[in-house]
Amino acid sequence: MLEQNNAPNPALPTPVQPVSSPIIEVAHLVKRYGPLTAVDNISFEVHEGEIFGFLGPNGAGKSTTIKTLCTLVKPSEGQVKVAGFDIMGQSDAVRQQIGIIFQDPTLDSGLTAVENLEFHCMMYHVPRPERSDRIKYVLDLMDLDAHKDRLVKTYSGGMRRRLEIARGLLHRPRILFLDEPTVGLDPQTRNYIWQYVRRLREIHKTTIFMTTHYMDEAEHCDRIAIIDHGVIVALDTPAALKRMVGEDQLELTTSDNTLAARIIEDYYKLSATERDDRLTLQVAEADRFVPALLGELPRLASNLVVNTLQIRKPTLEDVFLKLTGRLIREEDEGKKDERRLNLRKRRRL
Ligand SMILES: Nc1ncnc2c1ncn2[C@@H]1O[C@H](COP(=O)(O)OP(=O)(O)OP(=O)(O)O)[C@@H](O)[C@H]1O
Ligand SMILES: [Mg+2]
Repeated sequence: MLEQNNAPNPALPTPVQPVSSPIIEVAHLVKRYGPLTAVDNISFEVHEGEIFGFLGPNGAGKSTTIKTLCTLVKPSEGQVKVAGFDIMGQSDAVRQQIGIIFQDPTLDSGLTAVENLEFHCMMYHVPRPERSDRIKYVLDLMDLDAHKDRLVKTYSGGMRRRLEIARGLLHRPRILFLDEPTVGLDPQTRNYIWQYVRRLREIHKTTIFMTTHYMDEAEHCDRIAIIDHGVIVALDTPAALKRMVGEDQLELTTSDNTLAARIIEDYYKLSATERDDRLTLQVAEADRFVPALLGELPRLASNLVVNTLQIRKPTLEDVFLKLTGRLIREEDEGKKDERRLNLRKRRRL
């Protein structure tokens, strides 16, 4: 597939970016929609050159935060500075500094890639003599030059997303906002999009602010704010967040999970969560705990059978579970993604 052959080498390491002064400063931001508080008193800073992510479930307030930072939604309370400009008093200056890739697609599928980019240049007052060079540059950067004269409706989902990113770069923003950049795309294409985003950061030191509800996607970020019901419940590097959970994760299925959970709680003083026919618990040293558990269980409950047992290292899902008591994808996310994808497909026609 041409699109994938042209992709950057996934094996390239990502250099660690030096942390500098904040390019986004958010203090006590609140956004209410009538009685609903979509964003509830959040404060954070993003540093120049950072890839910063908001991770949270549906309705957590991710898009509302992005739209507020991008001056598209007015805050109810709080102060926000983007690239040193106030989002309320200096919204035009803020808009010159940022590029936005919205959660839902906004390309005109009846136009070619170049035509879409030309239209954006016009909207952003990119000087006419510079337009063709800039268009060529962003198409090259996203490996789309060979497809530039094709109608967007003939593009794959991954190519469209890359074109949206290319478009967001035309006016040379210092900060790129990506709202769910890879939702509905297959894992391989998602991976390629990430290679391009990292390339962008390496070449231009562009600051990336993104939202996602994909755990693996959040791993690409230098730092992540975990947001739930409009509140930031944790903010740190992915590694530090996972250290919060710290212990090994043990997942088992048994002939009677409720009984097994009770025994584990009574006998080992460990709390086991029952979910989707599985028991999950955290233990300090799974390789010692598991043989002890399997040795003791027949004595403690002779009829109890352990069917499957899995040990794994903590993930961001475990962090979310620990902080909120819920899984991030507890709602039927697959179905929601499918709906979004279908919406995108309909818009292509
Ligand atoms: N224009 C609006 N009017 C009223 N309520 C809104 C509006 N926009 C968002 N909301 C509500 O605010 C809350 C946060 O929505 P938001 O779109 O920010 O969530 P999200 O984290 O981006 O979710 P998703 O993962 O589904 O994109 C939700 O309860 C949503 O219904
Ligand atoms: Mg959203």
